[in-house]
Amino acid sequence: MRYISLFSGIGGLESSSQTPHAVCEIDPWCQKVLSRKFPEAELSKDVRSFIPPAVDVVVGGWPCQDISAAGLRKGLAGERSGLFFRMLDVAIEAGAHTIVAENVPNLLRLEGGRAFRLIVTALQQAGFTYVAWRTLNAREFALPQNRNRVFLIASRFRELSSSVHRPVNVGAVISSAGASGFYWTAGLQGICYSDGCVPALKVGSSIGVPSPPAIHYGDMVRKASANECLAFQGFSVEGFLDIPDKAKFAMAGNAVALPVGRFVMDGVFKGSTPDFTFTDLFSSAAIPRDGIDFGEGPFSVANRKSELSSNLAEFIDRSITQPLSRRAAGGLLSRLERSGKPCPSALLEQLRYLSALGETADSSYGSEALFRSSTV
Ligand SMILES: C[S@@+](CC[C@H](N)C(=O)[O-])C[C@H]1O[C@@H](n2cnc3c(N)ncnc32)[C@H](O)[C@@H]1O
Repeated sequence: MRYISLFSGIGGLESSSQTPHAVCEIDPWCQKVLSRKFPEAELSKDVRSFIPPAVDVVVGGWPCQDISAAGLRKGLAGERSGLFFRMLDVAIEAGAHTIVAENVPNLLRLEGGRAFRLIVTALQQAGFTYVAWRTLNAREFALPQNRNRVFLIASRFRELSSSVHRPVNVGAVISSAGASGFYWTAGLQGICYSDGCVPALKVGSSIGVPSPPAIHYGDMVRKASANECLAFQGFSVEGFLDIPDKAKFAMAGNAVALPVGRFVMDGVFKGSTPDFTFTDLFSSAAIPRDGIDFGEGPFSVANRKSELSSNLAEFIDRSITQPLSRRAAGGLLSRLERSGKPCPSALLEQLRYLSALGETADSSYGSEALFRSSTV
């Protein structure tokens, strides 16, 4: 089976057994990573002018900025998220029998479910009759990141779309050593402090400022590094050695977690035994997180729940010694105080310590002096 990867990013939604025939990605840094990863694949820059070769499968996680709860909620009418329809056109032009698509879970809730129904109807009208979707968390795949994404397979073949509902069977990894993650830029809406994992990586602010989550272990509170963020997505740093941190943060925030993408793609490319039962017709009010629509109306699918990993401690680079700055710690502390949202006392204590450091100490960023010993 030949496939094209659209919105390829750094190649998170790819098969483990086959390389793409063509990739399409507008970002120059991502193009650099892709050309190393898939040297034989044709590289196109803009899906809007892309003329596809004939293939069996078209794959892509189209831009989610207009769909994400944090975004503008313009939905499928938005300039970027409307690219879903370009992806459908590419699949038709390529004569593909299957489309694999990915997006944020908010896609299921957008406009009370109407946007998702529109997508399913458009796919079925184009002949991709069997549509199945599933919400998968990177923590089901031994990664320490609480990242849920919706994966949709629409196909002319029932077994290919159903494959997304096969068991995950990875097994959770639980670390004994404590490490937690949270959003240090949040506060008013809650910081999503999570033991054993980080909350979902984000792309960064609209003006391109990276916004990685923070990590807290022992007496250390600091921002996750760009390489750690790539690792939280299952990527090893080798393919990114000459890429600037700012670009790596954005790539990591955009990507599909590598083992999750492979699980979805391998169901299509390697064949699989789906394992689901039709439970009940879902109500018109809500789209289920796991479901199918094979042309006879939508059903929710009761997948077996996987255990979630809590192995953040194993992903921490202990050579990094730069804590959260005095200003960042102070800002977070003040937002937490204003919001009244709960925050673990060990973190509060550490933030108070960091925010009370003098300007001089703060400017010696990275020095051992900034470590708070347990006796301070
Ligand atoms: C949600 S990300 C997909 C990430 C990818 N699945 C991965 O694992 O890295 C969407 C990607 O679409 C790219 N993109 C946005 N507009 C595009 C266009 N017109 N043509 C091609 N790629 C585009 C963005 O640069 C971004 O890398």
